[in-house]
Amino acid sequence: MANVAVIGSQWGDEGKGKIVDWLSSRADVVVRFQGGHNAGHTLVIGGVVYKLHLLPSGIVRQGKLSVIGSGVVIDPWALLREIEDVRAKNVDITPENLVIAENAALILPVHQRLDQALEAARGKGQIGTTGRGIGPAYEDKVARRGIRVCDLHDKDLLKEKVDNMMLHHNALLTGLGAEIVDPAQIYESLVQVAETITQYAAPVWRVLDEACHAGKRILFEGAQGVMLDVDHGTYPFVTSSNTVASQAAAGAGVGPRSVGYVLGITKAYTTRVGAGPFPTELQNDVGEHLGVKGKEFGTTTGRKRRCGWFDAALVRQSVKVAGIDGIALTKLDVLDGLEQINICTGYKINGQVVDYLPSGQDMQAQAEPVYETLDGWNESTYGARSWGDLPAAAVKYVRRIEELIQAPVTLLSTSPERDDTILMKDPFVND
Ligand code: IMP
Repeated sequence: MANVAVIGSQWGDEGKGKIVDWLSSRADVVVRFQGGHNAGHTLVIGGVVYKLHLLPSGIVRQGKLSVIGSGVVIDPWALLREIEDVRAKNVDITPENLVIAENAALILPVHQRLDQALEAARGKGQIGTTGRGIGPAYEDKVARRGIRVCDLHDKDLLKEKVDNMMLHHNALLTGLGAEIVDPAQIYESLVQVAETITQYAAPVWRVLDEACHAGKRILFEGAQGVMLDVDHGTYPFVTSSNTVASQAAAGAGVGPRSVGYVLGITKAYTTRVGAGPFPTELQNDVGEHLGVKGKEFGTTTGRKRRCGWFDAALVRQSVKVAGIDGIALTKLDVLDGLEQINICTGYKINGQVVDYLPSGQDMQAQAEPVYETLDGWNESTYGARSWGDLPAAAVKYVRRIEELIQAPVTLLSTSPERDDTILMKDPFVND
């Protein structure tokens, strides 16, 4: 099966945009399967910068079909704004090249209000969400009171569903001391966008089944990272969806065998936005250096990312829970010029050394990294296009990462430019 799923192996922001764009040039269909517009993928093509949040990365390339699966939560207004922004850069977006799942759940303005009110109510226990309403929209979906794309076809049913949903939320908003939302206002604003949105709606599972049978190459584009997965991440400091590769099947509507090769995008150091445990975080000059050199500011919220050493124990865990076949290592050049580089191989918790991050919140908070120190390198790795271009110490660092995480480096990205990539294995080609 020549399909590929791309997921983040850390806490998101691993540099998926460039890799997904590179792979999407070789795919026929690109599918988003979880998350929403909390994601931010930056693509640089021919000097034009595209900042995508909800649209699959294939959208900027002609002749590709972009699909938003039912595992995604869709803010219709954010989607329409993004479509307009991308169109303004001379990209055609029509129902011919964009399909959204008729059974995908919607994010409504009330979800954003709830997201923000709930965060405020958490006080010191804040998660640091993107405030986009992702969590409350998924809650509604699971509670079976969500509004879905297909509901936009039937105005009477839509009104009933909005009233039912708002009965619940207005009680909650009142309890939180926040302003309530008028259901009629939500209904009216949904009616206004209904036709524009539903022109893209389709049974995505059928579209993908046909694509599979026609031998098309499908790229499943993940958002966030394994450590933000609602089951396998650093709960409760996680997002509200499954970010592991198996979600590509459920969130698109294909069988697990269709997912194909799982490529884990992995940054050569570690970053995290928002609150939560981060054992290798560096609150010193080195951390500052990584943030500045790596331009570590969020694409979606502009927030400064927390930075730290590469955590091999964490990525090894991601490799196992997400079934990662190989990794794409990004931003190695950010480490250029450091005298020594640490890699975390495990944690010391309550005086005991463990080689994985246990689930307990208190254990995660206490975890102290156990480091192995390697020599750094002075030469630049920026823009390298072959192994021969890399200094010996950088090759040693990459090889040590492979050993520790128990997965090969399939691809090495050495700058934001598409061509600055060292390819060890084409993920679309079965060996
Ligand atoms: P939410 O997804 O907005 O509910 O946020 C939950 C957590 O996931 C917060 O710590 C966010 O900073 C984090 N998060 C959500 N989306 C992304 C992303 O695309 N990159 C990195 N972190 C993210």
